[in-house]
Amino acid sequence: MPDYSKVAPDKARESKLLFLNYPNNPTAAVATPEFFKETVAFAREHKICVAHDFAYGTIGFDGHQPESFLKTEGAKETGIEFFTLSKSHNMAGWRIGFAVGNPSVIQAINLLQDHTSVSLYGGIQKAGAAALRDDQSSVRELTAIYEERRNLFLKALSPSGLKTTQTRGSFYVWLKIPETFNAEDFMDKLAHEARVFTAPGDGFGSQGEGYLRIGLTQPADRLIEAGRRIASLAPFS
Ligand SMILES: Cc1ncc(COP(=O)(O)O)c(C=O)c1O
Repeated sequence: MPDYSKVAPDKARESKLLFLNYPNNPTAAVATPEFFKETVAFAREHKICVAHDFAYGTIGFDGHQPESFLKTEGAKETGIEFFTLSKSHNMAGWRIGFAVGNPSVIQAINLLQDHTSVSLYGGIQKAGAAALRDDQSSVRELTAIYEERRNLFLKALSPSGLKTTQTRGSFYVWLKIPETFNAEDFMDKLAHEARVFTAPGDGFGSQGEGYLRIGLTQPADRLIEAGRRIASLAPFS
């Protein structure tokens, strides 16, 4: 998460928009209430609008309920939070979501939207309304499926000795690459020798070097198979 004390004051003064996303894609980091409090204070001080992308807001593991930015005191005045039905309701590609928060920002979005896009096809709007009016048990079931996949994948991978993250939100798991490899070489090894495709961390930025990202978007049996195949290549040198 960003450390606001490290932001140069002139950059903070010039900034208009602070874009955040927790649980995060790609890192899977989750926000804390303290971090959002600091965010509101920082945004107020420098008159910055906060836009929190809460796409993974329903996907929290081990009893963790992802933090909504709007729960933070002062957040509704400071910015907006937006949500998509892509992840929570498996409606990826349907392009339906909503934004909530500061009225003037919502008004601006409304104006832009009116001029840049045509209304969504009515069938999708009806499906979106049905999804949101539902008792949300399907959302809880889906989250439980991702949690189970995470557990089964990590268990199958554990004999490999590779260090992993115990993801608490979103559907990504990170592997620490053995010291002797860089991300691309290790990805190639897994692709060629285990036939498992992963995303090299440095593709997301320099701080991802040394790590690979795995998506939990395959059925459990495929993820177990992937974990076992990777583990069968150990020890890594
Ligand atoms: C953080 C984040 N925000 C937004 C989206 C996309 O949402 P939509 O499908 O509604 O464009 C994704 C999907 O990959 C995502 O990971």
